[in-house]
Amino acid sequence: MLTDATASSLARLGAAGSRTPIVVAQLGQSLDGRIATPSGESKYINGRAALTHLHALRAHVDAVVVGVGTAVVDNPQLNVRHVSGGDPARVIIDPNGRLTPDLVCLTQGKPRRFVIRADDAVAGHALPDGVEEIRLGRDGRFVPPQAIIAALAARGMRRLLIEGGAVTVSAFIDAGVVDRLHVLVAPILLGSGKPGLVLDPIAQLGDALRPKVEVAVLGDGDVLFDCDLRSTQ
Ligand SMILES: NC(=O)c1ccc[n+]([C@@H]2O[C@H](COP(=O)([O-])OP(=O)(O)OC[C@H]3O[C@@H](n4cnc5c(N)ncnc54)[C@H](OP(=O)(O)O)[C@@H]3O)[C@@H](O)[C@H]2O)c1
Repeated sequence: MLTDATASSLARLGAAGSRTPIVVAQLGQSLDGRIATPSGESKYINGRAALTHLHALRAHVDAVVVGVGTAVVDNPQLNVRHVSGGDPARVIIDPNGRLTPDLVCLTQGKPRRFVIRADDAVAGHALPDGVEEIRLGRDGRFVPPQAIIAALAARGMRRLLIEGGAVTVSAFIDAGVVDRLHVLVAPILLGSGKPGLVLDPIAQLGDALRPKVEVAVLGDGDVLFDCDLRSTQ
């Protein structure tokens, strides 16, 4: 069952079928800004309501995008299980061919599955049948998120959920392509572990992103910050 906060967030994302790409990113983190323990364990920092929120987001988009770090460490299913709704396409950004072909999100389920590789990457493992490879050019370390969004839009996927991890979400925010950022803060202190967002350094406080934010306390104590990165306070 969706919370009012989740229903409101989905309404703010707009109706399905939009011709304009919409990019929503999410991160679940501790009070001290960690998304995983030092060993990479992140299931589950957040509570049940946040998990339901994540699945509602998945059900609302055309494609869910994760970095290869998350794909390898979590081996996520990336499907919709906790709410009703169809499974989105799955996209793994793996510029260097690091993933192994046995990942659940590549081998199970019926949605379209994509792997983004850099055009200069050495051939990695062969991909399972039906998985589509998209080759894109790099700009420094990263494949420009704009190019990833354009490539997915050209294949009919205009509503994207950038689900993690922090490196991937940070690159999309630094590129200025995220419309809404959902940060789900759990009342837990890890004290160590993988940091959340790490963005390009700013010279002064006035350069910080200060989006308009809708805040909601979820039933089990997590707090949702639904940030509109297209508008500032
Ligand atoms: N709490 C949460 O909400 C949440 C969500 C997801 C994951 N997690 C946790 O986060 C950890 C993994 O996150 P992470 O931040 O370490 O890694 P990640 O974001 O999952 O993956 C990062 C890697 O993906 C590739 N990548 C992503 N965007 C790229 C781009 N635009 N261009 C080129 N390459 C790109 C790069 O691969 P290369 O390294 O090959 O260059 C990059 O190092 C795991 O422990 C997982 O459990 C937590």
